[in-house]
Amino acid sequence: MNVPASPKPRLLLTRRIPEPGFSLAHELFAVTGGDDDRPLDRDSLLRGVTGVDALLCLLTETIDAAVMDAAGGRLRVISNMAVGFDNVDVPAATERGILVMNTPGVLTDATADLAWTLILSVVRRVVEGDRMIREGRFERWSPFMLLGRAVAGATLGIVGMGRIGQAVARRAIGWDMRVLYADRSGPLAPAQVRAGANWEYRAGLDDLLQDADIVSLHVPLDPATRHLIGARELRLMRPGSFLVNTSRGPVVDENALVEALARGHLGGAGLDVYEFEPLLAPGLAGLSNVVLLPHLGSATVETRGRMAELAVQNAMAAVRGEAAENVVNPEALARVMSP
Ligand code: DGY
Repeated sequence: MNVPASPKPRLLLTRRIPEPGFSLAHELFAVTGGDDDRPLDRDSLLRGVTGVDALLCLLTETIDAAVMDAAGGRLRVISNMAVGFDNVDVPAATERGILVMNTPGVLTDATADLAWTLILSVVRRVVEGDRMIREGRFERWSPFMLLGRAVAGATLGIVGMGRIGQAVARRAIGWDMRVLYADRSGPLAPAQVRAGANWEYRAGLDDLLQDADIVSLHVPLDPATRHLIGARELRLMRPGSFLVNTSRGPVVDENALVEALARGHLGGAGLDVYEFEPLLAPGLAGLSNVVLLPHLGSATVETRGRMAELAVQNAMAAVRGEAAENVVNPEALARVMSP
């Protein structure tokens, strides 16, 4: 890949990003890559990153020490167009004085809406009903047909009460739900609790799992949250309860989930993310009590546009030594602020 000579800082885009981010990237940077909506293969990534000041990547790319070393000494920032950053080796970046930045905030509502889409779809058996119609199996109304469970008044358990968890909890106010939440940072400050909310902090995850009718996951993926929900935790969940995951697939032991669903312990699951994404654990796709989406949490035109724009703005702030927000590894800031 030839990098054109330019006074602008150099940016590698690992794949095409939505507008207005794409145009902004070209306005602010000398850009290479980003011609296709396909991730760069590993060799092109290692070659393309050489000599750039900024790398703008997506969750489809693994950004490890080898990529950082291939970049050489100029690389200031890895700007990930996602709120999650488990595709980036953050300690390796910190060691090298490279900032890692993400795009929180702008995708909160879209992701919370999708969590609610999954909650309603799985609890009210929406996809099973749709399939029944399309397959010509709907003969007449029946008082016993495709009965779901009540959502209004049920108990919702939220694991991870950050921005997205709180947005999911706010929506539950409209359904008059009791919300239990667990968060490793402890309970919310009183000012963060919405008027009219019935939110209870649970210090232990086990308590929440034993009490909730619907459990929704909103934690980042890191060593402490990998398989946070395994066979033991699934057994603790109430018989007939539901699990929804819009965070990261490996937070759930997917084989154990298939087992819990197949033996009828859980009422169902709504999944947007997968442990071996894009592959599914054996048996998952054959279950009727699951709703499966292809990682659509932030997939609205407005949100993806804002994420792309913010990722470019983040990259430029870092290159200018002005990055203050959205920095995942502030320990690396010292080097960037004093070039
Ligand atoms: C994220 O931002 O981490 C989502 O998974 C993709 O938008």
